[in-house]
Amino acid sequence: MERRRFVKGCVAGAAALGAAGRAAAGRAERYPRVALAEAGGAPLRGAALAPHEAYVFFYPFVSTPCLLLDLGAKVLPASGDAWPGGVGPRRSVVAYTAVCPHEWSHPDRDFSPIHYVAPGERDVLVGDRDRLIVCCAHSSAFDPAAGGRVVQNPARLPLASVLLEWDEATDGLHAAGLRGPESFERFFAAFDRERRVVTEAPRVLRLRDYSKAVARC
Ligand code: FES
Repeated sequence: MERRRFVKGCVAGAAALGAAGRAAAGRAERYPRVALAEAGGAPLRGAALAPHEAYVFFYPFVSTPCLLLDLGAKVLPASGDAWPGGVGPRRSVVAYTAVCPHEWSHPDRDFSPIHYVAPGERDVLVGDRDRLIVCCAHSSAFDPAAGGRVVQNPARLPLASVLLEWDEATDGLHAAGLRGPESFERFFAAFDRERRVVTEAPRVLRLRDYSKAVARC
């Protein structure tokens, strides 16, 4: 059923982006500041993240998934970029919405069309390039080390980045908003999902544990 909705949503998604999707790329929108939590509910520590492992949590709505990644090395914004770069002790932790800006494909419990190509992995849709977030629905690719910019179409808009905050004293991670063009209005129009803003600590799971199958393309 979920897979059928995914396909239906992709077809329906041929329409133009909604008002939310046309938001300026650098614009930040605040949502409730919430601590990220481990699966058991304890606060998530940055040190618990395995480099280049894709994690999923739901934010800013209880039904909108995000990807959390520790890219293993300092991630700095390009000069003049409104995107702030990575957080954490090495400034290596980033997060993005996992709702594809092309036609809103996203991970669910059964299947994730979106995955992260870790160093050394190969994905036929992006050739020799790795360290990318790839949506296998139609082969869009995004650079998580560059604010989620598009590196391969058909997506035209970058992934909206999650505004992460890191507490040096506790090594805790918080989500506090989004920056960039999100398309949640179109997502909610295409999929029958709960539209409630997250107010409690979202649980962070490995993507491969959350979805029964993660696409490789
Ligand atoms: S939904 Fe088309 S590339 Fe992601």
